[in-house]
Amino acid sequence: MIDFADKSIIVTGGAQGIGRSIAEHLLKHNAAVVVADCDDEAGAELIEYLDNHQRLCFIKTDVRSEESVIGCIKHTVKQFGTIDGLVNNAGIARSANAPVTEMSIEAWDNMLRTNLTGAFLMVKHAAPYLARQKGAIVNISSTRALQSEANTEAYSASKGGLVSLTHALAMSFANSIRVNVILPGWIDVSGLKKKGKRFPAQLTRDDHLQHPAGRVGVPDDVAALAAYLLGPEAAFITGQSFVIDGGMTKKMIYVE
Ligand SMILES: NC(=O)c1ccc[n+]([C@@H]2O[C@H](COP(=O)([O-])OP(=O)(O)OC[C@H]3O[C@@H](n4cnc5c(N)ncnc54)[C@H](O)[C@@H]3O)[C@@H](O)[C@H]2O)c1
Repeated sequence: MIDFADKSIIVTGGAQGIGRSIAEHLLKHNAAVVVADCDDEAGAELIEYLDNHQRLCFIKTDVRSEESVIGCIKHTVKQFGTIDGLVNNAGIARSANAPVTEMSIEAWDNMLRTNLTGAFLMVKHAAPYLARQKGAIVNISSTRALQSEANTEAYSASKGGLVSLTHALAMSFANSIRVNVILPGWIDVSGLKKKGKRFPAQLTRDDHLQHPAGRVGVPDDVAALAAYLLGPEAAFITGQSFVIDGGMTKKMIYVE
């Protein structure tokens, strides 16, 4: 079993969804976990639910703001002494879906700033601590870095950027910080939203069966991989991309 005792790991966007599952997973493996999320209502719910004040801390953070990111890093170091791991998971998805000819520059910028610049800012300010600890970074991209539906340019570009950012960082931090990226496919996060936004999963049999693995993904699928990539058993892995999508991106599709 992976043991993160004496390690502290920041999970951005960790108050809900995939990030919350990653935070819970890391706690189970004895890490001290900082959930850095802009939604303080979701953060407060998580703290109350997990009730682990020694090793879990919520820091209200907007990854789009350098000032907020610096505050998060300072608070983490004050509370836990150092930083051993960083999961750049915070992201927004559909808010900027629009035909490219109609997309506002504000919507485009907000998507890129949240999903890509946010990761850059977190790395920029966490790297000195991570390097000292020979730590690890896991970025959360998407299979939409590899394939698209119409009118998703901003999201796809942000997620593609994360894949490139990952291998560039892995080279810049060679011999000090390992950096890898996970590309999830369809992950049902309905059960891990804050109370006001939680709803029962509305998945059909076809939703599941179109996946070669036989089902839609769950947040724990991603969390288990993130924990592995942060841990010592992944010591020889850096700069790499890992698709976790139940086989969907390997499926040949012909129209009958
Ligand atoms: N769910 C999926 O099917 C899926 C698939 C592929 C990739 N992803 C990626 O996984 C990550 C998590 O997705 P999810 O489905 O769990 O989303 P979610 O909406 O359930 O959770 C995202 C969390 O990020 C936080 N967040 C948003 N903007 C932020 C900001 N500026 N600063 C700090 N926190 C912020 C939100 O408050 C929220 O708690 C995202 O990067 C998403 O693009 C999700």
